[in-house]
Formats: sequence, structure tokens, C-alpha cells
Amino acid sequence: MIYTKQEIDILREAGFILSDILENVATIAKIPGTSAYDLEILAETLIKEYKIEPAFKGYRGYPNCLCVSINEEIIHGLPKKDKIIKKGDIVSLDLGIVYKGYYSDKAITFIIGERSRKIKKLVKATLESLFMGLLEIYPGNYLSNVSNAIQTHLENNGLSVIKTFAGHGIGKELHEFPLVPNYGNKDEGLILKEGMVFTLEPMATLGKSDIEILDDGWTVVTKDKKLSAHFEHTIVVTKEEGEILTI
Ligand code: MF3
Ligand code: CO
Repeated sequence: MIYTKQEIDILREAGFILSDILENVATIAKIPGTSAYDLEILAETLIKEYKIEPAFKGYRGYPNCLCVSINEEIIHGLPKKDKIIKKGDIVSLDLGIVYKGYYSDKAITFIIGERSRKIKKLVKATLESLFMGLLEIYPGNYLSNVSNAIQTHLENNGLSVIKTFAGHGIGKELHEFPLVPNYGNKDEGLILKEGMVFTLEPMATLGKSDIEILDDGWTVVTKDKKLSAHFEHTIVVTKEEGEILTI
């Protein structure tokens, strides 16, 4: 799917709004004692103020606007009332919106207060891997080189890649073609073209890459309960490079 200049302008506005909402939610999330449900309410309120729609609520039955995934929770954490953020937690917030019929998707991870070098490295290297992938985005390059750059950076930092989930095309729908894995061989498959829009969303852990889904049917955790991190940006392929829309 190729998007026009006009559509990309709308996607850029959508990304800007999403980023603003997520930054506001993150500010409150950094206060120990805040519950994940408080964050859901805040996200919902801000989405209403902007007169836009949440992208996740109702998607395959997901019950909320926001995903709040703490520590060994990798993604799709439900914003439950009894999920209280405390000092030392690694918190990941994931939010999607629909603006003028176009979708935007973003996730961030941060540490609440101070933590060990190893844990800082997990969060830092996961964020960096997204940017290593970004540098491989330009028309004519293989999408698999983006995946390979993400994997290489994570593994060079002693982290395991979560392979069960991936980035995805986005725009008219939340999930579109192509799938954007966080691992892969160089120079294979799809070639990037100007106007493509997709997310990069590296997920990594200090432990093994095996995952489990909790009884709530949504929350994805590491099987060994080791800590994990997740970052996501929505990105467009321009004439020269990858442009982050969710800035
Ligand atoms: N950012 C995630 C994704 O792109 C969030 C989806 S949550 C869901 O898949 F509820 F919408 F599935
Ligand atoms: Co996504």
C-alpha cells in the first residue's frame, strides 16, 4: 500500500496528536502509586478532547484504549485497577488512535526511578535498535535489512529478540501489509518504496525469547519472567529516508 502526500500529511498530524497524548500519559505514569487504570482514563479523556478515536478499543475484542505492560509483561498489558506502578518498574505504554480515518501507533518504555546498569542497557539498546532499523529505511533497500539491523543491535547488546510479534503496515487500518519482523537475514523479500507506511516495534528481554499469554487472554509475558522492553514508532518511507510520524 502506497500513501499519497495528502494522506501522509494527515498521518503526520495523527502522529503528532498521538505523541502528545502519550507524553501526557507517561508524565503521570512516572508517579509511583499510579494505577494502570488511571492512565487508561487519562488516555480516554485526552482522546475525547482531541475529538478522535482510540484504535485498540474493540480491535479483536481488546477492551481498552491503552496497553500498560510492566516488567516481565512485554506487550498488550491490560490497564487494570490493581496494576499499581512502583519505583523500579519498567513500564511500557502502547497507544493507537484514528484521526480523519487514518491510524497511528506508538509505544514507549521507561524506568520508574533509578535501576541497575543492566536494566538501563535493556531499555537503551531496545530504543537504539529502532533507530538502527530506521537507518536502513530508504527506497530500494530490502525491508529485511531493517529487520536484520534491529536484531543485530539487540543481540550485540546481549538481549534476546521477541520473535512472536512484529511491526506492521498501518494507515487505513491498524494492521496492514507488510509484516515487519524484528529479526531476519539481509537482502531478502520485499523492497521499500516511497509512500509505504509501517511501524517498527522492537521487543527485547534480558532472558529467553519464549513468551506466554496470561489467563486474561491478552497480556504477553516472558516465560522466564525476565524483564522486557518495547518501543514503537509509525514511520513513512520518503524519497530519501524513513521519517518518524509519531514524534
Ligand atoms: N501496538 C500494538 C499492535 O500494533 C497494539 C495492539 S493492541 C490491540 O499490535 F488490542 F489492538 F490488539
Ligand atoms: Co503496533
